[in-house]
Amino acid sequence: MRKNIVAGNWKMNNDLSQTEALISDLNKQIKTSNAEVMIAPSFTNLWHAFEATRQDSIEVVAQNMHFASNGAYTGEVSASMLKSVGIQTVILGHSERRAYFNEDDAILAQKVDTALANNLRVIFCFGEELADRKSGNEEAIVEAQIKNALFHLDASAFKNIVLAYEPVWAIGTGETASPEQAQDMHKFIRKTLNDKYGNQVADNMSILYGGSVKPANAKEIFSKPDVDGGLIGGAALKAEDFYAIVNAF
Ligand code: 13P
Repeated sequence: MRKNIVAGNWKMNNDLSQTEALISDLNKQIKTSNAEVMIAPSFTNLWHAFEATRQDSIEVVAQNMHFASNGAYTGEVSASMLKSVGIQTVILGHSERRAYFNEDDAILAQKVDTALANNLRVIFCFGEELADRKSGNEEAIVEAQIKNALFHLDASAFKNIVLAYEPVWAIGTGETASPEQAQDMHKFIRKTLNDKYGNQVADNMSILYGGSVKPANAKEIFSKPDVDGGLIGGAALKAEDFYAIVNAF
């Protein structure tokens, strides 16, 4: 059975004291839930966040990592560095990494391989831009993003992968995909997996939706049969909003 997951991507927000305060609030509110709960603070706060959530039901995950195992890559962070501070899951392929840091499918395929080789679970993000949706190309774009970064893997690798569909036009814009648009795309993603790897991989895959998820719309989006949770940006920065979204399950 696939898992429900609600993950907060904090992006480049929250210094150490803000991280402490938000985790303290979340720890008080989130004791048990019907979903796995994750938060992704910045690199500098991962160790602290890991320590601060140890006793609680929140997993701390990383927002990114480099594909090389070590070496002359100034400013980068490796898989083993993440593991050494307790991290077990990494977000890869976020549209902001693709848009602002030129991460393409080939780089992402390498990152996925490195993460899996280091026993990190991957939350793999992808999604079309507004122009793609307007021209009716959204399924072709999403299919290519998934195939190019993931379809070199064996079926067994997929137990350590979570997919996150984040249409770029819905990220940080206040414009959410309708629950029907999310469901249609998630169903298509599951079919794409099924065609290549069969129903075991497809049925067990958690597929998260991301893009302006809020307390007001989470329940309806999560009620769709192929939507297994959310990757939350802005609303993950406020404990009560994030808690309300977790509670939508
Ligand atoms: P928002 O929820 O702010 O739209 O961000 C979504 C996102 O990019 C999560 O990774």
